[in-house]
Amino acid sequence: MNNKKILITGSAGFIGFHLALFLKSRGDFVIGCDNFNPYYDPLLKKKRAALLLEKGISVIDEDICNTSAIEKLVTDHQITHIVHLAAQAGVRYSVTHPEKYVHSNLDGFVQIMEVCKKHPHVKCVFASSSSVYGLNKKIPFAETDPTDEPASFYGATKKCNELIAKSYHNLYGISLTGLRFFTVYGPWGRPDMAYFSFTKAILEGKPLPVYGNGKLKRDFTYIDDIVKGTAAAIDLESSFEIFNLGNNKPEEVLTLISFIEEILGKKATLNFLPGPPGEVEATYADITKSQKFLGFTPKTSLKDGLTHFLTWYQNKER
Ligand SMILES: NC(=O)c1ccc[n+]([C@@H]2O[C@H](COP(=O)([O-])OP(=O)(O)OC[C@H]3O[C@@H](n4cnc5c(N)ncnc54)[C@H](O)[C@@H]3O)[C@@H](O)[C@H]2O)c1
Repeated sequence: MNNKKILITGSAGFIGFHLALFLKSRGDFVIGCDNFNPYYDPLLKKKRAALLLEKGISVIDEDICNTSAIEKLVTDHQITHIVHLAAQAGVRYSVTHPEKYVHSNLDGFVQIMEVCKKHPHVKCVFASSSSVYGLNKKIPFAETDPTDEPASFYGATKKCNELIAKSYHNLYGISLTGLRFFTVYGPWGRPDMAYFSFTKAILEGKPLPVYGNGKLKRDFTYIDDIVKGTAAAIDLESSFEIFNLGNNKPEEVLTLISFIEEILGKKATLNFLPGPPGEVEATYADITKSQKFLGFTPKTSLKDGLTHFLTWYQNKER
C-alpha cells in the first residue's frame, strides 16, 4: 500500500503524464504543475492534463520559477516527494534558444532546490539526461564515467542540475536522486522527437531529414520502462544517487525508420543531411547500477514500443 504525496513538475509533459497515471493507480496522492509553454503544441499538453484530471490528478498552471506558488503546493498538500521533470527539453533548440534553458533548467531548478531546502524531509527525484555524457567516447555510458565534455548547452544545463543538486545535498542533507533518461518514446510522446516527426512525415508523404547518414545510434527507451524505473527511484531509501535509465540496446536511426515503415506499411523518402551541432554519434546506457538498486530491467523492444506508439498515433483525434 503506497501513501506517498507526490508533486510532479512538468506533469502535462510526456514523461510526467505517464508517471502521474502510474503513481495514482498504485495509490499515491499525485498533484502536478506545468506552465504549458509553446515549445511544442500546448494542445497536446492540455489533452494530457484533461485526462489526468479525469483520474483525479490536478495540473496547476504554474511556472516553477514562481517559488512561493510551488512552496504553497508542497505545504498545502503535505508533499513527501517531488519528482522534478519540468525543463526545457531538446538538444537542437538549445543551440538557438539558450535563454529558455537558463530560465527553466537553471533558474527553475534552483527554485525547486530552494523549496526542498525549506522542506528538507521531502525527497526529490529529478530528470537528468544521457546528454550529460556529451563527447564521452567510451560505451556503454556508466554513471562513473566523466561528464565534463558537454556536446550541447542542453547537456550542460543537465550536468549543472546534478552539481547544483549535490551542493544542496551536501549543504542541507536533502535526499536527491538524478535520473539520466535515454531517448524516451511512446504514446502521448513529444512531437519534436524523431520517431514522432518521422511518423508524421511518412504518413504525409513528405521527406524525412536524416542526419549523419542515419548511422547515429540511440538507446531508445520505452515510456513504461522509464515510469517503472522512476517509481523505483521514488521508493528507494537513499541520500544522493545518480542512475542511468536506458534500454541498454542502442539502435541506428535507419533501423528506427525501417521499423516505422514496416509497421505502417509505407515507405519513407529520406533526405540525408550533415549531422546538426549538439548531436552525439551514439548513446548507450550501462544499467548495472540501476538494475542492482532499482530492479530496473527494461522489457520493451523498439519494435513493440513503436507498435504501441503508432497505434496511439493513428487513433488519436487530430
Ligand atoms: N523524453 C526524453 O527522451 C528525455 C530524455 C532525457 C531527459 N529528459 C528530461 O525529462 C524531463 C521530461 O521530459 P519530457 O520528454 O516529458 O518533456 P516535455 O517537454 O514533454 O515535458 C516537460 C514539461 O515541463 C513543462 N515546463 C517546462 N518549463 C517549465 C517551467 N519553467 N515551469 C513549469 N513547467 C515547465 C513543459 O510545459 C512540459 O509540459 C525533462 O526534464 C527532460 O529534459 C527527457
